[in-house]
Amino acid sequence: MTAPTKAPTAHSLPSYLQADHLGPWGIFLQQVDRVEPYLGNLARWVETLKRPKRILVVDVPIHLDDGSVAHFEGYRVQHNTSRGPGKGGVRFHQDVTLSEVMALSAWMSIKNAAVNVPYGGAKGGIRVDPKTLSRGELERMTRRYTSEIGIIIGPNKDIPAPDVNTNEQIMAWMMDTYSMNQGSTATGVVTGKPVDLGGSLGRREATGRGVFTVGVEAAQHIGLQIAGARVAVQGFGNVGGVAGKLFAEAGAKVVAVQDHGGTIFKEAGLDVPALLKHVAETGSVGGFAGAEVIANDAFWDVPCDILIPAALEQQITAANAGRITARLVIEGANGPTTPQADDILHERNILVLPDVIANAGGVTVSYFEWVQDFSSFFWDEDEINRRLVRIMKEAFAAVWHVAQENKVSLRTATFIVACKRILHTRELRGLYP
Ligand SMILES: NC(=O)c1ccc[n+]([C@@H]2O[C@H](COP(=O)([O-])OP(=O)(O)OC[C@H]3O[C@@H](n4cnc5c(N)ncnc54)[C@H](O)[C@@H]3O)[C@@H](O)[C@H]2O)c1
Repeated sequence: MTAPTKAPTAHSLPSYLQADHLGPWGIFLQQVDRVEPYLGNLARWVETLKRPKRILVVDVPIHLDDGSVAHFEGYRVQHNTSRGPGKGGVRFHQDVTLSEVMALSAWMSIKNAAVNVPYGGAKGGIRVDPKTLSRGELERMTRRYTSEIGIIIGPNKDIPAPDVNTNEQIMAWMMDTYSMNQGSTATGVVTGKPVDLGGSLGRREATGRGVFTVGVEAAQHIGLQIAGARVAVQGFGNVGGVAGKLFAEAGAKVVAVQDHGGTIFKEAGLDVPALLKHVAETGSVGGFAGAEVIANDAFWDVPCDILIPAALEQQITAANAGRITARLVIEGANGPTTPQADDILHERNILVLPDVIANAGGVTVSYFEWVQDFSSFFWDEDEINRRLVRIMKEAFAAVWHVAQENKVSLRTATFIVACKRILHTRELRGLYP
């Protein structure tokens, strides 16, 4: 059953947004509207979710290598901090908008509550194509951005992490810049750092491992065998690459992979370790020997049992949802499915394991990293993976139960679990003053 929906109400829109150009934030508002009927008395607090707590827009000026000065637009949004400090990644991408960062920060609030880690939700970004910058320019931009948002981040305030086009090195520069400004080393200000600098073992693989863990749980519930299952993956970076590797190791056949460099297909299953090596060396799946190149749009028609979107938002739309052959969609990316596509997949009896639970493995191990940084005591990788798998399985079981009980999608069920947790803490804390 699909929950009743209603158009976002005008009074819930801040003046800097226009009702007809809501972008990803509009998708989040629709998701909240779907969950509202299930919130009981806590629904009186629901406007809290429709307004980010804090938005910082910053100008990031740097010297380019040619001596000129360039300005970049940067953001940090703290959607909600009722359950703890803000937590969420930083994205460097030319298409970053305020609406996108707002939505991503809100999905972090939901995700962190769904796996019950003691964080609120936040996100940051710079509107830039980092591939156009030299390493020196990238470092200067990262450091200036960190200084600009330094007034609202901190180990107890808001803890950034990597996202699209940001990595361990960027986190090391962010940590160093914040520490220089504070006058002491503060490893806990960001997660996803290099292991030699307070990072956690298992963090790089954590999101893909979480995708695999809950994917296997969901497959069991719909009677889908992993051994021999055909898997198609969009995005073969940190999330898609690791998830593809783990599914292949479990006996599944990765039959199609798409990234920014093209789409490849092999009915008998791709050699995933060789493909990962090729991507590490060349930056893309394009040019990989031993696979057929197919048109990018044909990716959506590939016969498969499991589809893993692990690239960018709004990839599964009303235009292609009717063509997908998979029985299970596991959202590795944030926001890859539009609400219209969600409804089409639901009507076609395709189970969607939503981003807010499926890709929560990364933030779960980020939480472990933060805890380890505070105690300066580091765990071994087995312990990290064991704790990660336990948290992911427990979160999945709770969401599955709520979905069955209320006859709603797993996305709405995850929102029910998470929004209740967030709004319950809102109510317990009360309004100050
Ligand atoms: N890294 C994490 O821990 C983490 C955690 C939670 C969610 N996510 C989400 O997962 C998604 C992927 O993140 P990542 O860390 O793997 O990023 P990444 O930069 O490592 O990989 C991104 C992948 O997407 C591909 N891609 C980019 N544009 C594309 C296009 N137009 N069509 C097809 N493929 C395209 C790239 O080629 C690359 O393979 C993002 O939505 C991110 O927000 C990441």
